[in-house]
Amino acid sequence: MFEALPEPKADAILALMAAFRADTRTDKLDLGVGIYKDSVGKTPVMKAIKSAEETLLATQDTKAYVSPLGSSDFCAAMISQVFGEKADKTRIRAAQSVGGSGALRVLADLLKKGRPDADMWVSDPTWPNHVPLLSAAGYTLHTYPYYDAATGSVNIEGMLNSLEKAKAGDIVVLHGCCHNPTGADLSDSQWDKVIDLVERKALFPLVDLAYQGFGDGLEEDAQSVRKMAQRLPEMVVAASCSKNLGLYRERVGAAMLMAKDEAEATRAHGLLGGVIRANYSMPPDHGANATQIVLTDTALNATWRTELEDMRLRMIGLRQAFSEAMRKRSNSDRFDYIAQQKGMFSRLPLTTEQLQTLRDDFGIYIVGDGRINVAGLPEAGMDKLADAICSVLVES
Ligand SMILES: Cc1ncc(COP(=O)(O)O)c(C=O)c1O
Repeated sequence: MFEALPEPKADAILALMAAFRADTRTDKLDLGVGIYKDSVGKTPVMKAIKSAEETLLATQDTKAYVSPLGSSDFCAAMISQVFGEKADKTRIRAAQSVGGSGALRVLADLLKKGRPDADMWVSDPTWPNHVPLLSAAGYTLHTYPYYDAATGSVNIEGMLNSLEKAKAGDIVVLHGCCHNPTGADLSDSQWDKVIDLVERKALFPLVDLAYQGFGDGLEEDAQSVRKMAQRLPEMVVAASCSKNLGLYRERVGAAMLMAKDEAEATRAHGLLGGVIRANYSMPPDHGANATQIVLTDTALNATWRTELEDMRLRMIGLRQAFSEAMRKRSNSDRFDYIAQQKGMFSRLPLTTEQLQTLRDDFGIYIVGDGRINVAGLPEAGMDKLADAICSVLVES
């Protein structure tokens, strides 16, 4: 058996993490890993979550299974957070999922049952795990151009032209906000154009919402989903609580669907339960239970929103400070785009050799496509970082 297996492909980010850990330099800098870090480089448990966990510890009296679809109260809270209070909830359903990744997978499995012939379209570039994760559900993936590296913004013409080639019923994967890895988001009017095209060509949107609250704000970051929900007959959303509730290892997310009417929503939801049952049977409970408390308790909800807003504002501040340092040191405005982009990531236009030099000579670790984790930027060391980056740019 095992002798017939191929060698596993190395995961670039995990390999980078291992190399960073093994580096003994004290001034090394990790800009690679995709988790939020505070000003001292920690990824703390949020206060609101800690408090909800204390409540759980004191009150939870069973660890019996919940159900394949998870807690209906958690799901209702997530639907309100993503689709908004005013959404037509009769057509919307959700299942508690194993993080955003689990939501993506069970939704992809469900859609495969509805339209076995549909292909999927993902942005180029996209979150690298989209490719194996969605391919594993049996899809042929196509890419649409997304990023204009010259301006640091969305290549909207390229995106629209490419999606013209999709056939009716094909599934388009869209990042709801804070695009990973580019940080370039569609503007309001660009969303309108994409939705027009999706509607006209009868495409099916799968929205990946992994960073709600990291871009323009909790409500603002859901506008893309809410706009689509108003205009389109059906859609699905894979929401993650990993980043905005800091629950990474607890594996919390929601797989949501909006159908044409209540009967279709109920049927699809029942089938989604079957997909989950056949996959991992039941979702984990602890993180979702803590999330439900945070989302539904007025005081805890306010605490959490403040903590989330602090994280968002910190990342905006870091973006501004870094782009200013780059402006000074490079004597150009070519890095101004970093201050305009959204969320936890941006890309630097660095070659493999330049990235290697940054790692070897300065202990600066950046993923191979030049993606940096904005939350990892050093508050007190922006000029030093900008100097290092400019030195490798000049050498080339
Ligand atoms: C774009 C995107 N989607 C989905 C996920 C999945 O997050 P998780 O499964 O940890 O909730 C991530 C995590 O990095 C992501 O960046």
